[in-house]
Amino acid sequence: MSRLLTEKPHKILDLACGVGLSTKALSLNFEGSEIVGVDIDPSLISLAKKKINFPNTRFQCCEISELLEKVGEKSFDIIFVKSAYHYFEDEISLSYLKKFLQDDGAIVVAERTARSAGSYPLPEIASVYWKNIFSEPRPTRRVNSPSSLGLSLLVSCYGKFLTVPKSLYIDAVRENQLVGLWMLQSHFVSDWIEQFSEDGSASLEILEEFWLYVYRNT
Ligand SMILES: C[S@@+](CC[C@H](N)C(=O)[O-])C[C@H]1O[C@@H](n2cnc3c(N)ncnc32)[C@H](O)[C@@H]1O
Repeated sequence: MSRLLTEKPHKILDLACGVGLSTKALSLNFEGSEIVGVDIDPSLISLAKKKINFPNTRFQCCEISELLEKVGEKSFDIIFVKSAYHYFEDEISLSYLKKFLQDDGAIVVAERTARSAGSYPLPEIASVYWKNIFSEPRPTRRVNSPSSLGLSLLVSCYGKFLTVPKSLYIDAVRENQLVGLWMLQSHFVSDWIEQFSEDGSASLEILEEFWLYVYRNT
């Protein structure tokens, strides 16, 4: 994302930040910026606060519209939304988010590609769910005519293969960081972890690949 931006952003909002993995990446890549991570789920925000501690970063647990109404218009240079735009209610549309952007700011929506989703080892039921939800590039609706909102759109795709220690992957599954597993009962997940741990390999390869939709204020 830093390669796509001409100016260094002063203030970045990581909307629907979950456990803060995306917020952490933003904090490391934009050291001089002020980063705010926001999510509606208190258990995820509490994990984020425990694990991620940078002087330029803070977390807040609230509903998106609650935060935005508090901070006022034109508050952010970047509003970043990773793997979450599709969850929002209709009122959290691009035109709504645009109100909170600086004049030269951008809304950046990152959505995992189908190839990336398919590279994650998951219980079969979760793999099927992931395949379905990532079968088409997203976001789909509400983003097709940005020019009518005074936004220009640049779409790109970035990714790389990562070799991940299996123990790290299993810790992430245990800590509920993989959205594909959220709908499964915990005993189902622990049974799967047990089976998955037994195959002897020490690492696994996954593809982290995302569509990046950059909507710039024009
Ligand atoms: C798939 S997770 C993505 C988390 C994070 N962006 C990441 O990529 O790791 C989607 C997140 O959206 C949050 N969310 C959904 N609707 C929300 C809302 N209206 N306000 C704040 N957070 C919301 C959920 O609580 C969840 O943590």
